[in-house]
Amino acid sequence: MGWFSKISRRGGAQTPRTADRAPQASAPPLSPSPPSRVRRVERAADFPRFQATASDQISSHPGDGTSAARMRFRAAFTPSQPVVDRRMFAGRGEVLTAMIRSIEDQRLHTVMYGVRGIGKTSMLHVLSQAARDARYIVTYVSCGASSNLDETFRAIASNIPLLFHSQYDPTTAEAETGATLKDLLGPNPVTVRVASDLLARIVGTRVLIILDEFDRCELPEFRHNIAELMKNLSDRSVRVQFIIAGVAANLDELVEHIPSIQRNVYALQVPPMGPGELRDLVRNGEELSGLTFTDDAVRAIVRAANGLPYIASLLSHHAGLAAIDSGESLVKIEDVKIAMAEALAEFNGRLSRRAQNHISESLDKQSIELLCALAETAQKSGGYFSFEVLRQKLSNPANVARCIEIIERLEAREILVQAVDDEFGRRHRFIEEGVPSYLWLLSEQSRLSVARERPVKA
Ligand SMILES: Nc1ncnc2c1ncn2[C@@H]1O[C@H](COP(=O)(O)OP(=O)(O)OP(=O)(O)O)[C@@H](O)[C@H]1O
Ligand SMILES: [Mg+2]
Repeated sequence: MGWFSKISRRGGAQTPRTADRAPQASAPPLSPSPPSRVRRVERAADFPRFQATASDQISSHPGDGTSAARMRFRAAFTPSQPVVDRRMFAGRGEVLTAMIRSIEDQRLHTVMYGVRGIGKTSMLHVLSQAARDARYIVTYVSCGASSNLDETFRAIASNIPLLFHSQYDPTTAEAETGATLKDLLGPNPVTVRVASDLLARIVGTRVLIILDEFDRCELPEFRHNIAELMKNLSDRSVRVQFIIAGVAANLDELVEHIPSIQRNVYALQVPPMGPGELRDLVRNGEELSGLTFTDDAVRAIVRAANGLPYIASLLSHHAGLAAIDSGESLVKIEDVKIAMAEALAEFNGRLSRRAQNHISESLDKQSIELLCALAETAQKSGGYFSFEVLRQKLSNPANVARCIEIIERLEAREILVQAVDDEFGRRHRFIEEGVPSYLWLLSEQSRLSVARERPVKA
C-alpha cells in the first residue's frame, strides 16, 4: 500500500481511528461558498504533506503537534526494514551464540534459512557488528535474480584490503594506497578456482562473506559455484567463511549440492521468536519512542505475531501511530484492533485477486475458520501444513473428515492450497506466501472482537 493512501487515511478528519475515539464535530451549517481565492488557500493547506524533511527535521509547517512524537516513534518500529540498531534488537541470544560458536570453534560455513520476516537479515546485521568488534572483515552482499560469481566475487574482493594478502606487506606502495583484492583480478570472468586461490592467500585476519537473499538467485550455476567455493575453502582451511541466508523451508531448497558440503556447513533454521522475545521487541520500541503499551496491548500483539517479529513490529507500529493520532501516549487494546485492521488491509492488498475473491466471497464461515487454524502452523513453516497437524488440532473425527474434504476440493481446483509430495511425504501448502499471515491475523481479529473488553490471554 502506498504512502498516499496511508497519509490520506491518517490525515483525514473522518478517519476510522478518530471516529472510534471521539465524536465527530457536527457538519457546519450551510453557508455561501467562500470566494475562490480563499478556497484555493484552504485546499493547499489540506493537501497531504510530509511531516518531516528528508534530513529528518520536523517540517516547519504548522502541524497538529504530533510530528515530533511520530518521528521518534517511526524509528522505534521499522516493520519494512531489518533492525540495524542494537537497541531495537530483541532476543535471539541462543541462536546468535550457536552461530558464533560454529564460526569460531568449528570454522564452519553457515546456511541460515527460514520463513519470510522471521528476522534473518536483522540477525545478520547484529552478527556482523559482533564479528567486526572481533576484527573480522565482514562483507555483506544482498543477492538478486541475476547474481553470478564474477560480479559477486568482485564486490566481495573490493572489501578486502590488499594488506591482508600474503604477498603484500602492509608497507608496500599498493597496500598503502588502499588497494583491495579486487585490483588483483584480471579482465576474465572469475571462476571458482580463481576465487578460492585468491582467498587462500589471506593472512592476518578472518573474513565473513554474507550472501543474504540467496533464495532470489535464479541461476543454478551460481548456487553450484558457491557450494563448490565453500567446499574448496574448507578443504584448504582458508580463513574465510560464508554465511548464506534466504527464505526456504529446508536446507537444500536454498543451496545446491548440499550433500557434498554437509560436513562443512552449520545449518540453521531460524526459529519463531518466543513470547518473551516478542515482548522484549515491543518493550524496546516503547523505550525508544517514549510511548507505553498496556499489558493487554502487548499480549494481543505477541499472540497475533505468532512467532514472527515482522508482524509484532508491524502491529506495534500501527498501534503506536493510532495512539499518537488520538493524542495519547498510552497504547491500548483499541489501538491494536486498529493496527490489525490496517495490517489486514496491507496483507489483503498483496494477495492475488483470485485469492482475495475466494476468501471474501466463495468460502463459507466454517471453511475460513478451518483454514485460519491451519494458517497458524503454515505461517511458521514456509506455508506448509499436513493432515497430521489437522488431526491434532481437531479432535472430532467428523470435523477432520470435513476439513480434508474442503482442502481436497480447493486443491483439485488449485485455489489457495496445493499438495506437495517430497521426501517428507505428502503435505499441503498455501500457494501464495501472504495467505497464511492474512488468515491468521483475520482469526486473531475476530477473536479480539469477540473477547471485547475481556482481558486477552497470552
Ligand atoms: N530480533 C529482532 N528484534 C526486533 N525486531 C526484529 C527482530 N528480528 C526481526 N525484527 C523485525 O522484523 C522484521 C523482519 O525482519 P528481517 O527483515 O530481519 O526478516 P527476514 O527474515 O530477513 O525477512 P525476509 O525473509 O523478508 O528477508 C523487521 O521489521 C525487523 O525490524
Ligand atoms: Mg531478509
